[in-house]
Amino acid sequence: MNAPTLLASASVPRLSRATGIPAAIDVDVLVVAVAVGQSGPEPTESGDWVDAALGRNLGDVLDAMGATGEVESVTRVPCAGPTSKARTLLAVGLGPSNRVEAASWRRAMGAALRTLRGTARVGVVIPGGLSDQDEGAAIEGALLGAYSFEGYRTVDPASAPVEEIVIINGRLDDGDYEAITAIVNPVALVRDLVNTPAADLGPADLAAIAQREAGALGVDVEILEEGALLAQGYGGIVGVGRGSARGPRLVRLTWQPPRAQTRVALVGKGITFDSGGLSLKPTVGMQNMKCDMAGAGAVLGAVLAAAALKLPVAVTGWLCLAENMPSGTATRMGDVLTMYGGKRVEVMNTDAEGRLVLADGLARAAEDHPDMLIDVATLTGAQMQALGNRTAGIMGSHDKLVTEIAAAAQRAGEPMWAMPMPEELKANLKSEIADLANLAPGESRPGGMLFAAHFLAEFVPSDLPWAHIDLAGPSWNRDGDHGYTPRGGTGFGVRTFVELLIGIAHGSQPATRNES
Ligand code: BES
Ligand code: ZN
Ligand code: ZN
Repeated sequence: MNAPTLLASASVPRLSRATGIPAAIDVDVLVVAVAVGQSGPEPTESGDWVDAALGRNLGDVLDAMGATGEVESVTRVPCAGPTSKARTLLAVGLGPSNRVEAASWRRAMGAALRTLRGTARVGVVIPGGLSDQDEGAAIEGALLGAYSFEGYRTVDPASAPVEEIVIINGRLDDGDYEAITAIVNPVALVRDLVNTPAADLGPADLAAIAQREAGALGVDVEILEEGALLAQGYGGIVGVGRGSARGPRLVRLTWQPPRAQTRVALVGKGITFDSGGLSLKPTVGMQNMKCDMAGAGAVLGAVLAAAALKLPVAVTGWLCLAENMPSGTATRMGDVLTMYGGKRVEVMNTDAEGRLVLADGLARAAEDHPDMLIDVATLTGAQMQALGNRTAGIMGSHDKLVTEIAAAAQRAGEPMWAMPMPEELKANLKSEIADLANLAPGESRPGGMLFAAHFLAEFVPSDLPWAHIDLAGPSWNRDGDHGYTPRGGTGFGVRTFVELLIGIAHGSQPATRNES
């Protein structure tokens, strides 16, 4: 088996900066943003250099080409003038000029870099007067849009990944760049992990990568192997993993900065492949199931970013890792698993495995008495029925925590929506012989995402602020490239957690108890 040799730095371009007349800078393509103005396209750069580089007026050229400045639209213009080192100018749309915000810059630059595969050096021109926040978003979007997953195909030079992005005339400094890469690199790593075929990424492989990456940043890493999991009563993780030739793991990542006042626990579903187990999925439903560790990926990414940014918040990340396979040793329908903490669960469907590994992770994480507990998982197909492919569902026991996560997600540009946990669905938890069932017997029932949240809640102390994020849809882009999100693994969730942790570092208190 190939040992994974993934490095986040290999999948995003180098970043550098330059100042001066953009046309004089040694790049292959210059990217200039253009907004939709009152009377036609409104370039954000209108200095003499642009017209000299093109040999014509940029606004006129765009107008003549029918370019509008609509968000994410791209228009290539040849640099015909003798003064330009770049051969091409790429105009990318920001949308209406009166509604341009950080998210517009992130999306626009993502779209620009996505279309520039096969270009070695890309210059991104930052217009004078752009806010630091917008510039940061532009750089983040450019890097994320340029992400590409190579290593499993022969690279065609015409579509090779961009090697270097040169930020031209920006105001941000080295410290800002470090902060941006502290977030972008973990997102790229999560994308790599999600995109990696399951044959090359089993539970032990993922645990080893977590150890390598987190260890390098001063995060404490503890890995429980199958024997230890069995001995310590992790019946959910062991029960899901026992059909696979590759044993399960539980990884604890601890970022413990001095003077941290708040302790956040994150628990991620890390099914490195979900075949469904004996409740075997049909082929089409299984094709993307290497993505079923995206929750654990998001947790790993969040801990790496917190450590790289040296955030003054204590974060414990739990990765619940197993491969869900059918075999002679697999868990059967009707088997009863004794979960961490002692509750017994009758397995009615082995494809509802995420809630089983998370139950162990949640129960164990709660023992450390964190101030808040958040789990994240590609848990249900029902999430996509309810919210589509780009919006995650958030459920939980404490309204303020759910609301603050939704707000952090909004700032990050990762849509998440609060969903209810209707009381009546709890009836489906009943088992004929055990404390609980992982699913009601018989046909599938409405509200699958919400019922799964009820199941998880059984493993969290009721006074501990807890939230559950179901990102089955958003973790994997199946619809085609958009903005800074190429097809495949998205790294969704990492940037929301970073926003939430930064908010906590600045004094917000998401873990406040419910009012009533
Ligand atoms: N990993 C799947 C959920 C999923 C589906 C994630 C599609 C991403 C894309 C999960 O383990 C699962 O199989 N859920 C079942 C639950 C059902 C058996 C109650 C589902 O949603 O069909
Ligand atoms: Zn499943
Ligand atoms: Zn699953």
